[in-house]
Amino acid sequence: MKALKQYIPFCRASIGKRELAAVARVLRSGWLTTGPRTAEFEEKFRRYVGANHAVALSSCTAALHIALAAKNIGRGEEVITTPFTFASTANVVEHVGAKPMFCDIEEDTFNIDAALAKEAVSEKTRAVIPVHYAGHPCDMNAVNAFAKRDGLFVLEDAAHAVGAKYENKNVGILGDAAAFSFYATKNMTTGEGGMLTCADGALAERAKRLRLHGLSKDALKRYDKKGSWYYDLTEAGFKCNMTDVQAALGLVQLERLRQFNRERARLAALYSELLGDVGGFTLPVERKNVERVWHLYPVLVEFMERGRFVEEMAAEGVACSVHFIPLHLQPFYAKKYGYRRGDFPVAERVYDRVASLPLYPTLGEAGVRKVVGAIKRVKRRRA
Ligand SMILES: Cc1ncc(COP(=O)(O)O)c(C=O)c1O
Repeated sequence: MKALKQYIPFCRASIGKRELAAVARVLRSGWLTTGPRTAEFEEKFRRYVGANHAVALSSCTAALHIALAAKNIGRGEEVITTPFTFASTANVVEHVGAKPMFCDIEEDTFNIDAALAKEAVSEKTRAVIPVHYAGHPCDMNAVNAFAKRDGLFVLEDAAHAVGAKYENKNVGILGDAAAFSFYATKNMTTGEGGMLTCADGALAERAKRLRLHGLSKDALKRYDKKGSWYYDLTEAGFKCNMTDVQAALGLVQLERLRQFNRERARLAALYSELLGDVGGFTLPVERKNVERVWHLYPVLVEFMERGRFVEEMAAEGVACSVHFIPLHLQPFYAKKYGYRRGDFPVAERVYDRVASLPLYPTLGEAGVRKVVGAIKRVKRRRA
């Protein structure tokens, strides 16, 4: 097989000397699990978002799950969300015993269509989870309007959208609570990790208890100088706390986030400029009332079959990906609820064409130009 002249990975975390030093300091300190660094990370992230409370967790999945559990959402109840998302968003609804109710998406942002979500409300609905796809905030005025009317819990899935704004308000304070991801590919990372932000102090308190088995005290309170060995088990919680090793990484990444987001935006603008000239794609949008961030750069491939496009790009040494395979088409959800093709036509039409191009700060302008060069060669072969 011919060796590739270039290889452009789909994603790459930006980890520098400061992250290495911060992690090394925690390792040398002798205290590795949830402790002072986690508390500092929660406080700085809380201030960054402008939320009343922030609770650090092992993942965004855990943040979504804990939020639903803390609100006692469960059996016999329904949660409205989009099928055009990662498995976590709906799986957590299953985990608490409730039913995810999918609604189709908007043609331009690929976010949940609030008008359809409003129609999906029944007497069993308890919550709605709008997902800010690829970093573009959902139409939160429309979501909040029907949610407030029906007393629903609004939980933003902000996995892609740290740093984004909707009508000058930060993602993370647009609903009742929000779940962020610091997974390895995200705009800031702790390797694995997540954060729940929320307005309600009682919800934050319960989330803190639920992340550590339901104990009345965390480990630091038991093992530090003033600590006591006694704790109450107040309920059967989970084990999804963040460690100080992760938090140390997160503190440095949070300081660099604005720069990361600026760089991603600059590279996204360059993609849009160059691909506008190439033609053959529907390009991602930014609505006037938002300041989006760019977790992904998803295009709709209009000039050839999408699967073939991803394969031919891989042969050119460029790794692309697909976000997302709609959940109603996945065997688990299709079988359990009888969903089929045709149920959510916009999500399906987008899925058939969508491909995510590589996007991360260290890709640089040269990287974007190489990706577009590969696209031009693939396109020329079709002509
Ligand atoms: C939309 C969405 N929600 C939730 C998650 C879950 O994030 P985590 O891996 O931190 O649990 C992801 C992960 O990629 C995601 O894309």
